[in-house]
Amino acid sequence: MSHQAAEEPSPEGAPTPSSQQAAAVSEPTRLTVGTGTGEGGEQLGYDVLVGNGLLARLPEMIGPRAERVLVIHPRALRATGDVVREDLENAGYRAVVAEIPDAEEGKHIQVAAFCWQVLGQNGFTRSDAVVSVGGGAVTDAAGFVAATWLRGVRVVHMPTTLLGMVDAAVGGKTGINTAEGKNLVGAFHQPTGVLADLDTLLTLPRNELVAGLAEVVKCGFIADERILEIIEEAPDQAQNPHSPRLRELIERAIAVKARVVSGDPQESGAREALNYGHTLAHAIELAERYQWRHGAAVSVGMVFAAELARSMGRLDDATADRHLMILSALGLPTTYRDDRWNQLLEGIRRDKKNRGDQLRFVLLSGLGQPTTVEIPDASILYATYQEIAAAPETGAIQL
Ligand SMILES: NC(=O)c1ccc[n+]([C@@H]2O[C@H](COP(=O)([O-])OP(=O)(O)OC[C@H]3O[C@@H](n4cnc5c(N)ncnc54)[C@H](O)[C@@H]3O)[C@@H](O)[C@H]2O)c1
Repeated sequence: MSHQAAEEPSPEGAPTPSSQQAAAVSEPTRLTVGTGTGEGGEQLGYDVLVGNGLLARLPEMIGPRAERVLVIHPRALRATGDVVREDLENAGYRAVVAEIPDAEEGKHIQVAAFCWQVLGQNGFTRSDAVVSVGGGAVTDAAGFVAATWLRGVRVVHMPTTLLGMVDAAVGGKTGINTAEGKNLVGAFHQPTGVLADLDTLLTLPRNELVAGLAEVVKCGFIADERILEIIEEAPDQAQNPHSPRLRELIERAIAVKARVVSGDPQESGAREALNYGHTLAHAIELAERYQWRHGAAVSVGMVFAAELARSMGRLDDATADRHLMILSALGLPTTYRDDRWNQLLEGIRRDKKNRGDQLRFVLLSGLGQPTTVEIPDASILYATYQEIAAAPETGAIQL
């Protein structure tokens, strides 16, 4: 065993030893993400397990051939990382830990270089594996390390945030940030498995959980109305990590993402639907220098997209109004400051969905009916923004 840290260790942040909390273990739900067919016609894909106390399932996800496993986790999750390492050693692997900086600080080329160094010094070969333990920042960074080491080794994700479970760990997008922007460098690299252990959510701060729910709501609007009904029936339960309702929401959101990415593993078309609410959200994140949580920005972005679709005559009033009701019931922001339009428009113009000068938005033409729409004239965006904007004191409330 060896344990290496990218920087000097800091005090313990969030101990979440999943295997120790696994007393009440119920059968996990298994969702399969299909990613096409192999050269021999075999079905390619991987499983996402959702449940409690899933650590014992890790060897099954890593597969039989690996001898060495690199566990990558942030400092804040050192206790969980240590439990994972111990379990792997008990299962007969040679487990090595790479502790990386927290959150976006971990998505840095120097952190990737540190992980490559650990892999090299410990003789990792093509048949060995990487395990990520952490939120979306860690799945992105560890996924990138796995995608690039020896041109690709296996990676299993153990997401510990709601956003990580329903979004970042599923779909195979990996990436790091550069000085010029977020996620500009990366690769598609599908995991061999994902363990969404609900026990890890017990220590997640409430605002992180609520931010993750914005992506769950998105899945409801683009593909699964039952998600919206569950939240409407009991918005408090949707935020309770002990609740079976939250578990059902997570499973349903993963199922939506799995269906969409299975049909479009390289993001060439259908996957655009997952960007519902994200065009304005990215512009808000940029305007806020990434001090807003992604989910909070996506929440405002969905309200905007619904208003835009309504004003273009594409979406009925009831579905448009439902956005505001559900998102505010969860405590998510639904408005943004009215003095930032020019900056937001600049961010919207930089969005990756645009082709040339043509502005494009994912809009609904009904529940479960997302389409990418070309916006002929930015003036309609401005008029719509007036409908959702508020004075800076009330329109810039982060989670
Ligand atoms: N690849 C994709 O498809 C995809 C999709 C969505 C988002 N992302 C990426 O995901 C990242 C955001 O992910 P995130 O929202 O999970 O943020 P994060 O990974 O930064 O985690 C948020 C915070 O929660 C802490 N944390 C994590 N798990 C915890 C736990 N169980 N208990 C207590 N604290 C815990 C982390 O240490 C961190 O401080 C962004 O970098 C984004 O680009 C990627």
